[in-house]
Amino acid sequence: MLLKDTWDFPRFKKEFYQFTGLDLECYKDKQMERRITQLFTREGYDGLSVFFKALKSDKEVLHKFYNYLTINTSVFYRDSKIYDYLQKKALPDTLKKFDQLNIWSVGCSHGEEPYTLALILDELNSLKKVKIYASDIDDKALEMAKEACYTPNQLEKVPGNVFKNAFTERNGLYYLNPKYKEVVKFQKQNFLSPIYKDMSRMQMALCRNVFIYFKTDIQEWIIEQISGLIPKGGYFVIGCAEFINKPERFNLERQIPSIYLKTG
Ligand SMILES: C[S@@+](CC[C@H](N)C(=O)[O-])C[C@H]1O[C@@H](n2cnc3c(N)ncnc32)[C@H](O)[C@@H]1O
Repeated sequence: MLLKDTWDFPRFKKEFYQFTGLDLECYKDKQMERRITQLFTREGYDGLSVFFKALKSDKEVLHKFYNYLTINTSVFYRDSKIYDYLQKKALPDTLKKFDQLNIWSVGCSHGEEPYTLALILDELNSLKKVKIYASDIDDKALEMAKEACYTPNQLEKVPGNVFKNAFTERNGLYYLNPKYKEVVKFQKQNFLSPIYKDMSRMQMALCRNVFIYFKTDIQEWIIEQISGLIPKGGYFVIGCAEFINKPERFNLERQIPSIYLKTG
């Protein structure tokens, strides 16, 4: 018997949902339960109820939990082929088609993704034409995103010429130039909740390395909601390990793996 206390996973999920609004039922069961078990065993909690108490009282523990659930790691210019296509094709194309761009980074972690977009848009001389919205469920990740202070390994893929002007080093950490922070608006948001009807149109949305952890019907619901905000001619970007089955159902047309054009 793995658990010493009386809580089983259904009880844990129910309490966790009441506390955070995140429905763990949406995740692939086995994978999610394995991750949770690994985490609380490794951290020395005696069972699910003890672990839940710690999650409730300590933001750091909750942050670690979200990390573990979705492997929260992110870096600037993650999967450089994707950013290369965004920089050379998708962003110039979108900038040409629309006067003003709203871009949404869904599940933005510590800000690496929305800030990479800001760096690229600056290279395209278009920072002023764009608003970048970045959301995550994890308070601690959002705090770090707003601070925009990074370790060298998070920045390894930033091209040298961009790096020189965008970061200032202090005590071995790298601080992002405030002009990039100004264009990104961070917000706490659970993308599994009914947020979509109140949201603005997004000419580009990135939902990368986020929905792979969910059950298929939930993945499709997320794709439908997000792509529904994108007007014809906009782009939807997913992670390299993610896949949209029959994208035409969502009026999406694959341009390269992971990048879709909205066609209707
Ligand atoms: C693996 S990171 C992806 C970061 C970035 N998109 C990238 O590809 O590098 C996944 C992020 O999704 C966030 N996340 C997971 N479930 C979420 C939810 N239901 N609502 C909002 N954010 C969520 C996690 O907190 C985490 O920061």
